[in-house]
Amino acid sequence: MGAFRWLSLAAAASSALALTPEGLISAPRRSEAVPNPSGKVAFFSTSQYSFETKETSAWWSLIDLKTGDIKPLTDDSNVSELVWLTDSTLLYINGTNSQIPGGSELWVTGVSDFAGGYKAASLPAQFSGLKAVTTESGQIKYVFSGKSYRNGTAYNEELATTYASTARIYDSIYVRHWDTYLDTTFNAVFSGTLGYSQQTRLLSIGGLHNLVAPVPNAESPYPPFGGASDYDISPDGKWVAFKSKAPDRPQANYTTAYIYLVPHDGSETAVPINAVGSAPKGVEGDANNPVFSPDSKTLAYFQMIDPTYESDRRTLYLYDIASKEISALATEWDRSPDSAKWVDDETIVVGAEDNARGNLFLIPIKEATGDFVPDALTERGYATAYYPLPHKSLLVTGSAIWTSWIVYTASLNPEKGVLKTLASANEIDPELDGLSSNDVAEIFFQGDWTEIQAWVIFPENFDRNGKFPLCYLIHGGPQGSWADSWSTRWNPKVFADQGYVVVAPNPTGSTGFGDELTDAIQNNWGGSPYEDLVKGFEYAQRDLPYVDTSRAVAAGASYGGFMVNWIQGSDLGREFKALVTHDGTFVADAKISTEELWFMEREFNGTFWDARENYRRWDPSAPERILRFDTPHLIIHNDLDYRLPVAEGLSIFNVLQERGVPSRFLNFPDENHWVLQPENSLVWHQQVLGWLNKYSGVGEENEDAVSLEDTVIPVVNVNPPA
Ligand SMILES: *[C@@H]1O[C@H](CO)[C@@H](O)[C@H](O)[C@H]1NC(C)=O
Ligand SMILES: *[C@@H]1O[C@H](CO)[C@@H](O)[C@H](O)[C@H]1NC(C)=O
Ligand SMILES: *[C@@H]1O[C@H](CO)[C@@H](O)[C@H](O)[C@H]1NC(C)=O
Ligand SMILES: *[C@@H]1O[C@H](CO)[C@@H](O)[C@H](O)[C@H]1NC(C)=O
Ligand SMILES: *[C@@H]1O[C@H](CO)[C@@H](O)[C@H](O)[C@H]1NC(C)=O
Repeated sequence: MGAFRWLSLAAAASSALALTPEGLISAPRRSEAVPNPSGKVAFFSTSQYSFETKETSAWWSLIDLKTGDIKPLTDDSNVSELVWLTDSTLLYINGTNSQIPGGSELWVTGVSDFAGGYKAASLPAQFSGLKAVTTESGQIKYVFSGKSYRNGTAYNEELATTYASTARIYDSIYVRHWDTYLDTTFNAVFSGTLGYSQQTRLLSIGGLHNLVAPVPNAESPYPPFGGASDYDISPDGKWVAFKSKAPDRPQANYTTAYIYLVPHDGSETAVPINAVGSAPKGVEGDANNPVFSPDSKTLAYFQMIDPTYESDRRTLYLYDIASKEISALATEWDRSPDSAKWVDDETIVVGAEDNARGNLFLIPIKEATGDFVPDALTERGYATAYYPLPHKSLLVTGSAIWTSWIVYTASLNPEKGVLKTLASANEIDPELDGLSSNDVAEIFFQGDWTEIQAWVIFPENFDRNGKFPLCYLIHGGPQGSWADSWSTRWNPKVFADQGYVVVAPNPTGSTGFGDELTDAIQNNWGGSPYEDLVKGFEYAQRDLPYVDTSRAVAAGASYGGFMVNWIQGSDLGREFKALVTHDGTFVADAKISTEELWFMEREFNGTFWDARENYRRWDPSAPERILRFDTPHLIIHNDLDYRLPVAEGLSIFNVLQERGVPSRFLNFPDENHWVLQPENSLVWHQQVLGWLNKYSGVGEENEDAVSLEDTVIPVVNVNPPA
């Protein structure tokens, strides 16, 4: 053992960190690549924060789809969104309006002379999610979304009425969501038209139509995460489809959503195509992602069955606009696709989480009946955006644990797969220099009742003959996963590069491995997932010779934070030198303070009063568990996390402190469930990694490792001497 220990010190001491917290946060962040109609070139945006200037800069670039060469398009920060009109012309939203304070404008320009564009329309407020099609007559029909008043007028923040009191008054539950209190405005989809004047310039014809406001209580996109994929415009410019949570059902305890169809000109009120009664029998869950076929005759969308379960399986449906008939595709496929693109009128590509990757699948409509299981077109990392290119291929943008952005072409023939990588951030960005697919491996072990997959992420200068302390990362959800994708919040490589081998398991409750694994979490929060994690720890101890479990640490957020709190009161808690909980639940009865009642009522199979024993079954705050608390524990909880309110973090910190367990409380008053602002993110990383490094001994071994003392903000109070 002595010799091993010496080796590990040597290996760790020589490790220059490949990925540092500063590098992770200040590396460029790029959008999807959007090809022009002929598929020769694509645009994408980049934003980058500088710790020196404390500013974020943003710019647009073009990537050549033959060579991968990248060149600048514009760095004008008034340009907020682009769409291709032709191979060489673009339509964009300009965030400034020369006449209306707080308004914006639509501009048209050429790719080769971006600054030489002209204004095509004046817009009364701010909008995003621009989509546009060119009709047969040459008009441009567009849609975008923005905030709206109930009377249909677009909400302009700069011109809005303010009141002397800040009071808010509610007559129904669902008072706040995620990080925002509901107010009298809501999201709406607006449509408009541009036409040629004297055959030279595009100009606005008629005004904007609010397509959502005429439906009482409808809202689209659905906040906080709904965006442009919540609506679509038909290629012929005649129709718009949008998703809204079912306005006729209570918002707090149902997930039911409808897909609405409405003429682009707003001449009729939108009608739901899949309301209860018109949807296939028994299908009452969340619906999303409407997309029109190239011939504008069919609308594809996804829907779940269960009206309260946000992680039910999504099935692909086709709505025939003429006959109003709905048909289901690939109903037996045990995956839950969440994005779709038509390749032609007979073929759809969908994206779905699949064995901890984000793969694309080909669905030939005529074949996709019965027990059809589609073939994967990509099997690398996580595909996040894709566009059909000429010659039966796709332009794909994605990421992986080892790269923040990768752009490649993939064949529509599953046997050919990935054709050519055009660009990857780990080869462009100095912050990601040294990262490669060799940094990541995958293991499988027998869990509580089934086989469990986990990612293993190696530190820089990893040596199979060395020994590196285990960093055990536990994901949230619980219906979620550690996937082969990039994250700027919980990036396993940034943990590994401190000098750990990271093991990131996908236990019971995880998504992407089929319904059985996901659904088995119900009423089972501290049951099978905990046993799976114990088995995974034992696997690392027994079968990964380069992992030192005697200096292991564990961290998790959200459900992962609940699990770390549960582990603190369990046998497994004694195996760790330090624990970190980020925005986790602690007191079982406190769950009723959330606004997402559908979530709790599904997870614990009943209301707070009918099924209280289910809510209490896995209670990390039970007295006999608290009496076992002993492992140093950092608690993080943010004020704007309304789904798991900050009292949860304060409660466990009270207990840890009263029980004399080394502990610290880190709070961000201006962050929600996530820590997004770069300077806050840096402190978060310094505190999380510093805490783990202090107790695992990595801090002493590796002079490049992050330390708690790196944070310049003073500690508010320290424990009086005992
Ligand atoms: C955006 O446009 C306004 C109005 O012309 C101008 O004052 C401002 O400088 C522009 N911003 C940038 C970053 O170019
Ligand atoms: C944005 O609009 C403002 C106001 O019309 C104009 O001054 C500015 O040049 C525009 N910028 C771009 C990039 O279109
Ligand atoms: C709609 O309501 C807003 C907010 O009350 C108001 O400012 C606006 O004038 C109204 N629009 C119309 C057309 O009445
Ligand atoms: C949802 O809440 C409404 C009242 O807001 C109630 O009538 C209904 O029974 C609840 N449904 C479920 C499934 O809990
Ligand atoms: C959930 O509750 C229903 C009705 O009480 C019951 O039939 C079902 O078995 C329960 N499911 C679980 C997983 O406990």
